Amino acid sequence: MADAKPFHWEYNPEPVAREVFRVEGGHALSGVVPISGAKNAALKMLAAATLTGERCRFTNVPEIEDVRVMADTLRDLGVVVDHPEANVYEVASGDVEWLFVPLEAAAKMRASFMLLGPLLTRFGRVIISNPGGDRIGRRPVDLHVEAMRALGASIDYRNGYYFATAPGRLRGGEIRFPFVSVMGTENAMLAATLAEGHTTIRPAAQEPEIDDLITFLQEMGAEVERTYPDTIEIEGRKRLRGAEHRVIPDRIEAGTFIIAGAVTGGRLTLQGASCDHLASFIETMDRVGVGVSCGSDAIEVDGSALLEGGYRAIDVETAPYPGLPTDLQPPTAVLLTQATGTSHVHEAIFEDRLEWLAEVRRMGARIDMADAHHATIEGPAQLIGAEVEIGDLRAGASLILAALAAQGTTVIHGAHHVHRGYENIERKFLDIGASLARSAEGTDVTPT
Ligand code: EPU
Repeated sequence: MADAKPFHWEYNPEPVAREVFRVEGGHALSGVVPISGAKNAALKMLAAATLTGERCRFTNVPEIEDVRVMADTLRDLGVVVDHPEANVYEVASGDVEWLFVPLEAAAKMRASFMLLGPLLTRFGRVIISNPGGDRIGRRPVDLHVEAMRALGASIDYRNGYYFATAPGRLRGGEIRFPFVSVMGTENAMLAATLAEGHTTIRPAAQEPEIDDLITFLQEMGAEVERTYPDTIEIEGRKRLRGAEHRVIPDRIEAGTFIIAGAVTGGRLTLQGASCDHLASFIETMDRVGVGVSCGSDAIEVDGSALLEGGYRAIDVETAPYPGLPTDLQPPTAVLLTQATGTSHVHEAIFEDRLEWLAEVRRMGARIDMADAHHATIEGPAQLIGAEVEIGDLRAGASLILAALAAQGTTVIHGAHHVHRGYENIERKFLDIGASLARSAEGTDVTPT
């Protein structure tokens, strides 16, 4: 739809402090990495806490930029957000004075759109900016909007903002998505918890972070259940109560460190990580020849096959859960540069998530991009330190992985992007023997 100038035509993005990582590659990493709580669960729970006026308490929340952005966005609405100690957040949404989520929040983080469902269903109205987020494709929000309409909301789009209202309570209904959407499922589910009557969401995304959100909602007194793998059903309640919840471990952070061990020929213990949510990724590691063993509260990684030239080229394709996560496609592509033979990567979810491979190519990787969704990788390639630029969160972490595998020094510009989603990434890498230094590099106004 053609878009007029937003209200915020005078909007000037806040300057972002740019950072550079200098990584000296070629060291096998070894030791213990504590795995933090899941970003993509914690962000949704902070939004879900606005469904009640009572206090909610979250533990194991990752200390990352996106969580800080969500907390600040809530505070701007009049919500009380306390941060009594590291990894603990408390949210009390008794008085929400301002049912308006501005472009300033949306431009920083797509997950700000997760406030649509809960604010609309509890307060009957909200004005919310069209979100930005990672530079990994168009990423529209039409499914979220249609889901709200299916529950009886009226939504107009004007000047870059969605104006959503619900006459009285939202009404339960049938939500049929044309394809699976993670946040679409979550927004619909949050809206339905306070709607009148029964809601069915199909096909519902099956990501473990959604099941963690369901557990939290149940703790709040919501009647919500995954009745089939691809179906979530909700019986709306008049009100929900405060609750306490511990966020599940971050499977994407765990997968990133599995590759860190693999591409450096190292041995790592990922403390607090669970194999439960990583089955397809671990199967992929198995096919390549990376040793991964699962304990009750840790994952052990053995990358010794790298040194024996034993990694095998394979074909991979991303898919919604339980398939191979798109968020682990970039790290997996780095691993495949070290495997013997020709690998094919099919990124099936997002349209611009292979572009960053151009940066790894500058480091000596032999990669051919057939189109926006398909790449061919010839390995093994000796990666060589170079000057590269990070464009988004997952590509950023993956460039660090490539740099750790490379000979010589890699200078990674735009390193601040990784703080959006990885807690203390520099400290975690230093503690397992990486040679890595972070420094400031002026400022820019690129949305993170
Ligand atoms: N889509 C639409 N219309 C919509 C919503 C989605 O066309 O209204 C399309 C998207 O453009 C995409 C596909 O549907 O092609 C699937 O997107 P989905 O809605 O599942 O993604 P998301 O909910 O926006 C979440 C994660 C992403 C992760 C994807 C896929 C959060 C905050 N974000 O995004 O995580 O890649 O699911 O698993 O949960 C990250 O953490 O780095 C990240 C990008």
